[in-house]
Amino acid sequence: MIYSENRYPLFRIMLDSPSGEVNRRQEPKVAHMAKVAFIGLGIMGFPMAGHLVKKGGHEVTVYNRTSAKAQQWAEKFGGRTAPTPKAAAEGQDFVMCCVGNDNDLRAVTIGPDGAFSGIKKGATFVDHTTASAEVARELDAEAKKRGFNFVDAPVSGGQAGAENGVLTVMCGGDGAAYAGAEPIISAYARMCKLLGPAGSGQLTKMVNQICIAGLVQGLSEGIHFAKKSGLDVHAVIDTISKGAAQSWQMENRYKTMNEGKYDFGFAVEWMRKDLSICIAEARRNGATLPVTALVDQFYAEVEKLGGKRWDTSSLLARLEK
Ligand SMILES: NC(=O)c1ccc[n+]([C@@H]2O[C@H](COP(=O)([O-])OP(=O)(O)OC[C@H]3O[C@@H](n4cnc5c(N)ncnc54)[C@H](OP(=O)(O)O)[C@@H]3O)[C@@H](O)[C@H]2O)c1
Repeated sequence: MIYSENRYPLFRIMLDSPSGEVNRRQEPKVAHMAKVAFIGLGIMGFPMAGHLVKKGGHEVTVYNRTSAKAQQWAEKFGGRTAPTPKAAAEGQDFVMCCVGNDNDLRAVTIGPDGAFSGIKKGATFVDHTTASAEVARELDAEAKKRGFNFVDAPVSGGQAGAENGVLTVMCGGDGAAYAGAEPIISAYARMCKLLGPAGSGQLTKMVNQICIAGLVQGLSEGIHFAKKSGLDVHAVIDTISKGAAQSWQMENRYKTMNEGKYDFGFAVEWMRKDLSICIAEARRNGATLPVTALVDQFYAEVEKLGGKRWDTSSLLARLEK
């Protein structure tokens, strides 16, 4: 845990560092309860918003496009619901958001009844959507024009990370805006860091996805090769996971990959959305991403096999078809 409740229900002890990284070894400071809105109660947003109530002790108002889900959330966690992003944002200190892609994000911010038309001056909008750096910079500029703060803050750690409140959060924005938002984000983060100006959180998430793409393909080829060689896959992974080939994907995905189970986890269509953002950004910044581009095509083949909603570890399925 990165904080613990003290004797006063409206306050909690925060441990943070001047570098903008949540860090348990620093001297504690007290963070006040805040008025917070959360927009987008999907697989990730639903439990994240819950942690703002349960761990953060904040006063939370939620908005979800499908209103039944917002109702379900309010019944479970006891917060309030709002009929539009604008209504949810009105009067809040912080507005958190986690929707699908760039277009969804534009819809709930600058679209009709969007949060940007309701948010008060001096408040902070924190976006957890995995989106482009371009849209983050565009919304940051819009926020500055209107007198409030914007922090891009995509996450890693999946559904389990969101449910257990142990996400890694990669942030971009101004130092003061980040410093204000970090204690709120800490309700569902194990690691939270400011990486640079607006868009830097999204750029860091791209690095994360580039690293995962090649790694999962390597793991798929390794398991495929082990099977073709007649080796015991469990014994092989048990051995090599203690050596230099170890990875989160190896430890958490090899069993289901070996069994051909993919109906869970981080969907291939979301990964393709993320990889297309990476490839578009590389065209702009001049980076060369040959393996990332190839793995994206492999995922296109997985989609043709019916795997649009399969977990990203399903790269093995195309080797075994
Ligand atoms: N799932 C993961 O493991 C994971 C891990 C890391 C990062 N992410 C990223 O986190 C983001 C959310 O992922 P998720 O898995 O939570 O997705 P999800 O379950 O599909 O939820 C998406 C949420 O966004 C809302 N939404 C989408 N388009 C909208 C629009 N135009 N207007 C208003 N609301 C809209 C949806 O509302 P409705 O309920 O009405 O559809 C839903 O609440 C994505 O950017 C994803 O890449 C996901």
